[in-house]
Amino acid sequence: MNEHLKPQSVSQQADELEEHMMHELERVYVKSTISYLADGEYKKMDTSASAWAKNPKAIFNMGPDPRLPQMPAKPTLLDYFRLRFAQHAHLLQSATHALKAGHNEKIITACLLHDIGVVSFIRCDHGYWGAQMIEPYVDEEVSWAVRSHQALRFFADESVGYRYPDMYIKLFGDDYKPEPYIVAEYERARRHKWYMTSRLICVNDIYSFDPNMKVNLDDFVDIIGRNFRQPEEGLGLDNSPSAHMWRTMMWPNRFL
Ligand SMILES: [Fe+2]
Ligand SMILES: [Fe+2]
Repeated sequence: MNEHLKPQSVSQQADELEEHMMHELERVYVKSTISYLADGEYKKMDTSASAWAKNPKAIFNMGPDPRLPQMPAKPTLLDYFRLRFAQHAHLLQSATHALKAGHNEKIITACLLHDIGVVSFIRCDHGYWGAQMIEPYVDEEVSWAVRSHQALRFFADESVGYRYPDMYIKLFGDDYKPEPYIVAEYERARRHKWYMTSRLICVNDIYSFDPNMKVNLDDFVDIIGRNFRQPEEGLGLDNSPSAHMWRTMMWPNRFL
């Protein structure tokens, strides 16, 4: 009997159907508008219409992006450190300085997480973003300190030997002046009861860009365990007010 005329088993039919579907459907990964804006592209947006114009069978990614490392089913903060953050040496160095200076664990945790917004998410207003991300999971003093370092780092405090960083002159030019909202935030923060916690982020921050300093995330596992309330469902899969931010990091290309 001719091979092609043989009746097919159910599993053969399923295989054929799957192969047919794979050729027909194209899973599409799109960028968010903020990615275009960051590239200076205004009024640009990936839409279903533009994808379907290229392939009417396009379907849109609604889960993990296979180009990124797979996150575990119940991700922890450490998983995000290892699988999503662009780098963490600066954070570990800051926390190591705080540890060696004998500061308490709230200050060490604040140093460890102070630039979490930059390394994971976005640069603009990173102190605010970072504070919001961690707020449901850390002591209020820690997230307050992370938020306020956004403003404090631009202002000197001679009492702890903190001067306006030379690096900022190099980075932003010598004519950069903090905007009024930053000045106002500084004025509020300097009178706050937790001022020094945030100020110590700045103090430990400026010394923490040494490429030769050896740091290891494992050294901070216990401190994270004691100071970051890991949700049982997985970070981002819980229903905290900032869980969506973690999910967005996990699935940055979900269509909706
Ligand atoms: Fe920062
Ligand atoms: Fe920093």
